[in-house]
Amino acid sequence: MCGIVGYIGDYRKTKQVLLEGLSRLEYRGYDSSGLAVLDNNQTSVIKCKGKVSDLQKKARKEKLEGQLGIGHTRWATHGIANEVNAHPHTSGSTSVVHNGIIENYAELKAQLQKSGFEFVSDTDSEILAHLIESGLAAAMSFEDSAREAFKKVEGACAVAAVTQKEPGKLIVLRNFSPVVIGLGENEKYIASDIPAIISRTNRIIYLQDGDMAVIEKDQIHITDLEGNRLQREEVLVSSDPASFEKGGFKHFMLKEIYEQPRSALDTIRGKISADHRGIELESIKPRQFSKIKKIIALGCGTSYHACLVGKQLIEDLSRIPVEVNIASEFRYSNPIIDKSTLVIVVSQSGETADTSEALLEAKRLGAKTLAITNVENSKISRESDHVIYTSAGTEIGVASTKAFTTQLIVFYILSNVLGASKGVISEAALSANVKSLVSIPLLIEKILKLDDRIKELAQKYNSFNNFIFLGRGLNFPIALEGALKLKEISYIHAEGYAAGEMKHGPIALVDENVPVLFIAPNNGINFQKIVGNLREIKARNGLVIFLTSENGADEYKEYIDDLIEIPGCDYNISPIATIIPLQLLAYHIARIKGTDIDQPRNLAKVVTVE
Ligand code: F6R
Repeated sequence: MCGIVGYIGDYRKTKQVLLEGLSRLEYRGYDSSGLAVLDNNQTSVIKCKGKVSDLQKKARKEKLEGQLGIGHTRWATHGIANEVNAHPHTSGSTSVVHNGIIENYAELKAQLQKSGFEFVSDTDSEILAHLIESGLAAAMSFEDSAREAFKKVEGACAVAAVTQKEPGKLIVLRNFSPVVIGLGENEKYIASDIPAIISRTNRIIYLQDGDMAVIEKDQIHITDLEGNRLQREEVLVSSDPASFEKGGFKHFMLKEIYEQPRSALDTIRGKISADHRGIELESIKPRQFSKIKKIIALGCGTSYHACLVGKQLIEDLSRIPVEVNIASEFRYSNPIIDKSTLVIVVSQSGETADTSEALLEAKRLGAKTLAITNVENSKISRESDHVIYTSAGTEIGVASTKAFTTQLIVFYILSNVLGASKGVISEAALSANVKSLVSIPLLIEKILKLDDRIKELAQKYNSFNNFIFLGRGLNFPIALEGALKLKEISYIHAEGYAAGEMKHGPIALVDENVPVLFIAPNNGINFQKIVGNLREIKARNGLVIFLTSENGADEYKEYIDDLIEIPGCDYNISPIATIIPLQLLAYHIARIKGTDIDQPRNLAKVVTVE
């Protein structure tokens, strides 16, 4: 995680470019930030604990002029969040910003201390500044000393470095953590991600793992760590600047919840066949998967929950067995894989380290791979054999919303494509499923009209300290996701369970202080069984919120304290519907509690450390 940004070019623009870039990268980390600006042989560094807005206030009082600069917004790994541990880190003439973890930190630190370098911070990153400075002190060029330093550090990282000794150069390394270079006339930008620089340029070079770039304002020299020259193409990227604005909403999360009819439509667009009875995927021809005997779906957090829904859809519609694993567990689980296995990796950002490492392991073991991701040119999309993009648009709120519903849509599409190609679902069933698919945007729009009802519930329930979410079948993963949304933005403890599992232990938690939220569309499997679970909760004085289809609970109102009714829909698309009120509930409770909704404590949008 952490965001890095850099600029070389116009004397007057440096400070502004860095601060603007950092505020756009804040979703990657937001516990402290800093920048270093070089004016020939003088470096000015400012840093502070807290948000980029705190750094902006501090920067206003400083002149900070120079033709070259680097900046950083931090998500603490080594060392607490404070001003000393904030980046840039400086050693003599050299300043660096770093995203990642240096795994052989202890050994390198001991060597550097022995050579007389004093450490002022608790971070692993400071090592890089000292390593480069030691090379410069031994009369190496900036390029050579940076290369030698980068060769010594182990672990995924992205680094940007500057030195007063060669003040016309910015050196950048990409090693399993993302960095892009933006191109302008007589000026260049670097950033962890495109949003930081897209308002300045759309001419982008994506560095690849192991690339080191020496950037001057009018030229770029890219090599590997052995010094071999590399060519990387310039790409023109398109990005909608409106995605980076709140557009009248109080928070990005609410805006993104409301964008779901549009993102659903964009994800479906172009995938329905001309006769409106079938589904076609540009990136995948079903025959490519005809020999697949098993699928493994992997992701983290919300993307993992999408995999849990995906498993049930694929197994139901195509009868291909699917295993699901948390990406961080998969890699170390000695997985059973061969070339008849398809590994599906799901990641909004396409950069999550746990997921990308799992993908590499799956490839190493000989699996075919398919990514479901929201970001073109991301690490995961580049490494996978096949990609299906979710067209959610840029998601800025740390709590994932529209990315999740578009992942579910892609799983529904994929299940139908696989099922149809294997002859498991008939033409008539496929045609009915296409109708369900195209109904999704309007369905979401109707559910968003429940917002006022959900606000009332948030008023009633915001002071409870514990919540339980229960669902069965396709809506069990929605119970997990609903609980995750509430936890991460309102800091209320919440558990998601399979409703039938409740009586095997967790029911001991239930009393009048624990709201239990059932997710139970009335055409779902085991609806009667869930009604049984509802009675069990009520018999123990639990408070029941029941999310079901319109009129689905008419016979059971005596057991229900609060009802959320959504329009009826095909069971297989019901998770896309049932999650919307839960996203809104988490949002409104968090808003009443006054938490930092778009940037909840301790989290970051892109998690690039394992
Ligand atoms: C929760 C959330 C996280 C992410 C997880 C994976 O709201 O956003 O749990 O889902 O960090 O991120 P991606 O999908 O980018 O791999």
